[in-house]
Amino acid sequence: MNSLVILISGRGSNMEALLEAALPIENIIVISSNPNAGGLEIAKTRRIKTLIVDHRTYPDRASFDAALAERIDRYQPDLIALAGFMRVLSDSFVNRYQGRLMNIHPSLLPAFPGLNPHKSALQEGVRIHGCTVHFVTSQVDHGPIVIQAAVPVLPDDTEETLAARVLQQEHRIYPQAVRWFMEGRLKFSFNRVEVSKPTICKTILFSPGLQK
Ligand code: GRF
Repeated sequence: MNSLVILISGRGSNMEALLEAALPIENIIVISSNPNAGGLEIAKTRRIKTLIVDHRTYPDRASFDAALAERIDRYQPDLIALAGFMRVLSDSFVNRYQGRLMNIHPSLLPAFPGLNPHKSALQEGVRIHGCTVHFVTSQVDHGPIVIQAAVPVLPDDTEETLAARVLQQEHRIYPQAVRWFMEGRLKFSFNRVEVSKPTICKTILFSPGLQK
C-alpha cells in the first residue's frame, strides 16, 4: 500500500495538484507547520487527513523536527513531499528520510536557491526561468534532480506574473515526479536520479525567440 505525507506551511496549491493527480497512493496525510495554512482547508474538503505541528510551540529546530518525525513515522510513508514547507530541516531529519524526501523549488536549480527566486531571476535578467523537483539533502534547495520545467521570462514580467507562469508548471511536474517515485521508476546513480523509460522532450526553448 503506497503512502505519502505532504508537508505544507501555506496556500497548498502544489499539495492540491498532488491530490488531484489520481496518483497510485492509498494513504495520504497532510501535515502543516502553520495552523492557519490555507492548504489545510483544501485538504479537509477533500477528506484528506490533516495534522498540525506548529513550529512556534517548539523551543528550537531539533525539538520541532523530532515532533514532526514522530508524527510522520506513525504513517510509515514511502515518500514525504515538501510542498511550500517553510521550515529549514535539520541534518538529522534529512538523513532519517534520505532518498524519500522530495521538494519543489520555483527556480531552475542550482540557480536561485532560497527565498525570492523570482525576484532574483528578474534582477539577474535571465531569459529562462522555471522550477525543479529534487530529493532533499542537508543543503537547502539542493539535491538530486528529478524533473525540471522551463518558462520564458517576458519583458514586462513582474514577480507576480513570473511566479504564476512558473507555478502552472510546478503543478505539472510535482505529480509527475511523485508518480514516478511510487511506480518505482526513480533510481539513484552517483548522486543523480535516473528515470526509467522517461518520455524524451527535445523541444528547445528560445527566449526571446529567434527572428529571421
Ligand atoms: C511554491 O512556489 C513552491 O515551489 C515553493 O513554495 C511555493 C508554495 O506554494 N516551495 P503552494 O503552497 O504550493 O501554493
